[in-house]
Amino acid sequence: MPAKLAVSNQKGGVGKTTVAINVAGALNARGRDVLFVDLDPQGNASEGLGFREAYDAEPPSLFDVLTDPETRDAIGDLVREHPAMDVIPSNIDMTAAEPELTLSRRGGEQLALALEHVEDEYEYVIVDCPPHLGYLTDNALHATQNVLIPALAESTSKRALELLFDHIEALELDYDITVRERGVVANRVETTNEAREMLAWFGDAFPDVPIWEIRKRVALQRAFSAGVSLFEYEHDVDMTDEFLAIAASLDEQFDMPPLRSGAEAMG
Ligand SMILES: Nc1ncnc2c1ncn2[C@@H]1O[C@H](COP(=O)(O)OP(=O)(O)O)[C@@H](O)[C@H]1O
Ligand SMILES: [Mg+2]
Repeated sequence: MPAKLAVSNQKGGVGKTTVAINVAGALNARGRDVLFVDLDPQGNASEGLGFREAYDAEPPSLFDVLTDPETRDAIGDLVREHPAMDVIPSNIDMTAAEPELTLSRRGGEQLALALEHVEDEYEYVIVDCPPHLGYLTDNALHATQNVLIPALAESTSKRALELLFDHIEALELDYDITVRERGVVANRVETTNEAREMLAWFGDAFPDVPIWEIRKRVALQRAFSAGVSLFEYEHDVDMTDEFLAIAASLDEQFDMPPLRSGAEAMG
């Protein structure tokens, strides 16, 4: 069984996609096999990673896999190769997924059921969530039962995280599962008083969860525009260390087997 992680926060523009891509890139840089799932109907990650064509492709797409049990095992055909990871892209049809899943039986379990067909080949499955608390996010949280939370170091994040935790608590009761918080990524951090106060608040609010700081860096936008994580990007960027620290912590939290770099070097 791979380690599975949803990157979630219902607030838009906080860095879910950026964090998901770069954590996946860092895990790959450590030698891990990663499957990246873009569950956001807007398909930012799919487009950013170079799969615009798949986003616009005709059915069957991720939408059909999630909404039609007969098509579920077509998930394997959706997998695309990126230099750092395999990717299951989103699709324009995913905009219709929420109402469709509302009407489905077991509407929150469809991603978990579909992933069973492909997940064995990977050490990690990283799911990039949409910016709202609906059925797609429920599918991500249910399938992974682990969450990494990107949040801006701004006071508006307090309310956003309260809502997210209320939602997760309700979901845990509905499905009789436990969703574990694996860390908070304070993103786009600048040297302001507000940021300093919020970092302290994160520390108080999540005493048992690691909190990382990703600073505001234009290079993160440039790497994204170039279709890669910082780890395949041609320029040196100081934030790679922090993403590697996240990857190392995940390996530890998930009790992953030792890296095989020695074996790989031997050919
Ligand atoms: N640490 C950062 N420094 C600079 N720009 C960032 C950083 N994190 C994210 N961004 C930019 O902010 C915008 C929103 O980020 P994104 O990852 O798409 O958020 P979300 O997926 O939560 O909507 C994007 O243009 C992205 O390139
Ligand atoms: Mg996004």
